[in-house]
Amino acid sequence: MGETMQAVQITRYGEEDGLELREVARPTPRAGQVLVRIRAAGVNPFDCKIRRGWLAGFYPLDLPATAGGDFAGEVAELGEGVTGLTVGERVYGMINPMQGGTYAQYLAVDAALARRAPANVDFTEVAGLPMAGQTALHALVNLGGVTSGNRVLIHAGAGGVGGMAIQIAKVAGAHVYATCSTRNVQMVRELGADEVIDYTTTDFRQVARDIDLAVDPLGDEVNLRTYEVMKPGGTILVVLRYNKTEMENRAALSARYGVNVKVVEFDNEPDLLDRLRELVEGGKVRANVRTVLPLEQAAEAQRISGSGRASGKIVLTVP
Ligand SMILES: NC(=O)c1ccc[n+]([C@@H]2O[C@H](COP(=O)([O-])OP(=O)(O)OC[C@H]3O[C@@H](n4cnc5c(N)ncnc54)[C@H](OP(=O)(O)O)[C@@H]3O)[C@@H](O)[C@H]2O)c1
Repeated sequence: MGETMQAVQITRYGEEDGLELREVARPTPRAGQVLVRIRAAGVNPFDCKIRRGWLAGFYPLDLPATAGGDFAGEVAELGEGVTGLTVGERVYGMINPMQGGTYAQYLAVDAALARRAPANVDFTEVAGLPMAGQTALHALVNLGGVTSGNRVLIHAGAGGVGGMAIQIAKVAGAHVYATCSTRNVQMVRELGADEVIDYTTTDFRQVARDIDLAVDPLGDEVNLRTYEVMKPGGTILVVLRYNKTEMENRAALSARYGVNVKVVEFDNEPDLLDRLRELVEGGKVRANVRTVLPLEQAAEAQRISGSGRASGKIVLTVP
């Protein structure tokens, strides 16, 4: 082995104890790639689904494989033919599991996927942005066309996607309802929700009505009830893909209530990172990172993320 680096790798599919901090070969950038010295890596529920092996059919990993998709760091080296980025520049982005992993000190990544990071926030905050921010922007702006005066319902407002979605909807001038549990009510209000619904005490159907756009990262019963609060012609943006209950009931409920359903399916739209940078630099949006752990505690970070009850974003700092 030439030069090495520390990386947290999935050694077998299953529980978090299959994650191991290992010394592995440092990647070398191919033509068109850059080598990024990662300083912080975002943790997402998606990372946990990959580690559990739930997505092995889509992403056939050759284990051991480095975990993680969100990264923030500096360009350490330019591959052949790369222009527009310079060594030392602060960058951020997201990769899919077939492109490597980000719970590591270095990542070789296509130059188009590494975008200039917001200048006004540190690497921990930057690492919380890519997946949650791109998803919320793609859902509300690209698919939903959110606009001033819209009435928007955001489920799981305390989560990564929901927290970004609240802020993006407010930037567009929407009136925002958001759901969360009691301990997160204050946080969700601070993110900008006009009406925070504590789902442990209140059924959102008693509060939200005439909704133009709903963001649903939860599926199941929450999804079924959401149709009842929609304006005819409104749109449910399904973030949790492949939810059995949602898929089985979609056609009948959308016909009965006259509601559109759009499934948020995208791999990566790095251009959205440039929009996200502007929003962050303009002080309009933040990642809301609430848990910061060192790389060696990646298993603990994924335990929290995989529980479905994380408050705000979880980020690993990389030594
Ligand atoms: N389609 C795509 O391309 C795409 C992209 C990104 C994410 N996703 C998926 O979307 C889901 C959410 O992602 P995320 O990053 O936002 O997750 P996350 O940050 O882990 O969010 C979990 C949040 O859900 C909230 N929650 C749980 N049950 C709830 C309920 N009944 N009502 C309201 N809130 C509830 C929790 O808040 P409380 O503790 O207050 O309950 C927690 O804050 C994941 O399954 C993820 O894999 C899909």
